[in-house]
Parts: sequence; structure tokens; C-alpha cells
Amino acid sequence: MQHPLVVAVDGPAGSGKSSVSKAVARRLGYGFLDTGAAYRALAWHVAHSGVDPEDTAAVVASLDAFDYGIGTDPDGYRVRVGEHDVTEAIREPRISGIVSAVARVPEVRAHLIGLFRAIIAAELRPGIVVEGRDITTVVAPDAQVRILLTASEEVRMSRRAAELAGHDAAATGAQLRARDRADSKVVDFLNAAEGVTLVDSTELDFGQTIDAVISVIRAADDR
Ligand code: DC
Repeated sequence: MQHPLVVAVDGPAGSGKSSVSKAVARRLGYGFLDTGAAYRALAWHVAHSGVDPEDTAAVVASLDAFDYGIGTDPDGYRVRVGEHDVTEAIREPRISGIVSAVARVPEVRAHLIGLFRAIIAAELRPGIVVEGRDITTVVAPDAQVRILLTASEEVRMSRRAAELAGHDAAATGAQLRARDRADSKVVDFLNAAEGVTLVDSTELDFGQTIDAVISVIRAADDR
């Protein structure tokens, strides 16, 4: 048995991956890793350094000074870049608007994937829930549990709008659609790869989605 037990969860923006994965980790006493937060933190670092996110060479060069810190405790999850706590800042629309440009750079992906694998290997809890876009296929294709979490576009939009209460819902929806379009050109997170279990949360509430994910984990554990 590999240690820790890795639960890989992929899915599009607004599928509820982060909140569901975090709740599942909490329930099982596992660690939690939000890989999107790392791409967002890099986008924040790029913006903070005055680098043009479309300038690939400059983005790659900015990796040298990218001091990224993240724990895997699902309670008290904070994201740090250098001495800045960027946990909240990386969720702002100005970061969501540039993150895809940064995430499509192959050197960026290789760098962050190495970081994710090191974090997974260092996990001391019995398992870790890792969520993103390419976890089931690239970061941890050997994970004992591999899940693609989806929901209809309509439901994803309304969940994200509720999360970002106060922001313009139409603009948020347009940005989310544009981001999915751009991101899915880099990795396919809309179709389940072979051996990946599809969990469609369109008709499920938050608690039911957590239960659905936990039953996939339990089924894999019994194999
Ligand atoms: O999950 P999120 O919306 O916080 O992710 C932010 C961005 O990072 C998303 O637009 C695509 C990118 N991403 C990626 O390319 N690969 C991952 N494993 C996770 C996120």
C-alpha cells in the first residue's frame, strides 16, 4: 500500500472541488492540497513583480524568486508568497483573469508539478486529497482514488456567483466560461480518463457530494 493514500480530484471551475475536497479531508483526517491555489499564487507573484503575464520568458524567469508556502491542514489552510499571506488575494477576479496565461506555460507546470509531488510525499497523515485539473492524469496518475467532479455549467455558475456575492454575476460567469475554455486546451478535465470515477454533483447538495466522494474512497479501500 502506497503511503499516503492519495485521493486525486479533478474538475472544472465552480464544480465545488475545493470545498468538497477540503470537507472530505477533514472528515477522514487526511491532508488537503489545492493545486489551483499554487497557480493562483504564482499569478499573484507575477502581478506583484510587475511582470506581464503574457510574457512567457518573464513568467518563467519569475519562478526563480517564487517562494511559495502552503500547508496541508484542511483546517487553517493559508497560502503564502514570500512574507505575504495571499490566501484571500488570490481569489480576486484580477488574479482569476490572469491565472490561465500563467498556467499554460510548460515550464510553470513542470515546476509546480514537482512541488506538488514533494508535498504529497511529505504528507504525514494517512491520506491526502489533492484537487486540480490534471491530478488524475499527470500529477498523480497512480493515485489509489481518482475522481472527476463535475456539475452542469448552469449549476457551476450559480454556485460561484453565490461564493462571490457582491461581484457582478454576469461578469463572473463570463470569466469562468472563458477560463474553462482556456484551461481545457492545456489539460482535459471535462472528460474522465480511463479508471477515473465520475461524480456529477448537479443534482446533489454539498453534504451529498461529500458522501458520494467518500463512498468512492471507501470502495477503493475495499478493493
Ligand atoms: O481551481 P482554481 O480555479 O483555483 O484554479 C486556478 C487556475 O489554475 C485554473 O484557471 C487552471 C489552473 N490549474 C491548472 O492548470 N492545473 C491544476 N492542477 C490546477 C489549476
